[in-house]
Amino acid sequence: MDRFLVTGGAGFIGSAWVRQALADPSVRRLVVLDKLTYAGNLANLEPVAHDPRFRFVRGDIADEATVAALFREEQFDAVLNFAAESHVDRSLFDPAAFLRTNVEGVRVLLEASRAHGVKRFLQVSTDEVYGAVLSGQSRESDPLRPSSPYSAAKAGGDLLALAYHTTYGLDVVVTRGANTIGPYQFPEKATPLFITNALDNQPLPVYGDGRAVRDYLYVEDHCRALTVALRRGRAGEVYNIGNNLEIDTLTLATAILDLLGRPHSLIRLVSDRPGHDRRYSVESSKLRALGWQPQYGFAEMLALTVAWYRAHEAWWRPLRAGEFRAFYQALYGSRLGLSS
Ligand code: NAD
Ligand code: TYD
Repeated sequence: MDRFLVTGGAGFIGSAWVRQALADPSVRRLVVLDKLTYAGNLANLEPVAHDPRFRFVRGDIADEATVAALFREEQFDAVLNFAAESHVDRSLFDPAAFLRTNVEGVRVLLEASRAHGVKRFLQVSTDEVYGAVLSGQSRESDPLRPSSPYSAAKAGGDLLALAYHTTYGLDVVVTRGANTIGPYQFPEKATPLFITNALDNQPLPVYGDGRAVRDYLYVEDHCRALTVALRRGRAGEVYNIGNNLEIDTLTLATAILDLLGRPHSLIRLVSDRPGHDRRYSVESSKLRALGWQPQYGFAEMLALTVAWYRAHEAWWRPLRAGEFRAFYQALYGSRLGLSS
């Protein structure tokens, strides 16, 4: 496998995987297909833009004609599908966009992969498909009980990919990764939102009692896990990717403020996210048995992430203007008592 299609490769995790993959000289061809939604950003691919093995194509994975044309032009051994509408809070406003990309888009890619003899299809799914896990850890065989339109749509894409293996024999691997942080994450997710708000001395909106728990992976660890699943995973199998961390939102917010030397008084407890999952935790021994293990603990990954945002204001500042302002006002305006 040395020719790759990476969908959603202009986003946070997809672009990190592309940068990591192209550091490997055995990769012969790597094409990114990305719609460049608000979350897609060519600046994330700038470090590889001039690599002769790399090509960028702007297009929608749910558009059959676009995908068919690309598969006629290029030959792919493997497809990695990162493309998704990825933010839970946005899915509460506009579920339709989530179903189109996260379910129908997956179907279009699976069909093209089947028609063109792709050797492996990696569906990048999420630990959120299990829903809230109040105690213990989710195993790959556990039932899916997603809570939000985002996670329900991701569960649809995840199960559809597995069905293509069962029904048509397509070589599919699904990964279910934990919350991921690091450079180039759009500043709507909790970690980069809190960092950029703190840098601007703006309040940090913490939902509910601030005690919802997440596991956290550094983006480089997540990407190495995907490569292990891609190269060594068994067809038709699911692999959880987790770090066994239990970090609640108040812990995250105070750690960010401490790293930036900002006062804890910037924290605002605001009304909760509807359907907010209280805790995620995945058991990832199945992937670890293939040789993966995370290298970054929470303190180290957060320090690296905070340092990156501090040094890259030119990257994130424009993203907080424009469309983001309307989104921010709609989501947080009344919660934070902002004037419109
Ligand atoms: P992101 O929002 O940063 O990037 C998504 C990318 O997909 C963007 O570049 C966007 O332009 C592109 N895209 C959206 N709709 C598209 C479409 N219809 N056609 C083509 N491109 C489209 O997301 P991310 O955080 O990098 O997540 C990548 C994948 O990993 C997603 O599938 C997500 O569900 C999954 N995941 C994310 C996390 C996390 O914590 N961020 C954790 C586990 C799994
Ligand atoms: P987020 O980064 O949106 O990821 P998830 O997909 O797990 O919800 O949120 C991480 C945690 O932080 C989650 O428990 C929700 C919480 N959160 C807040 O308290 N305030 C916020 O403004 C955001 C975006 C998230």
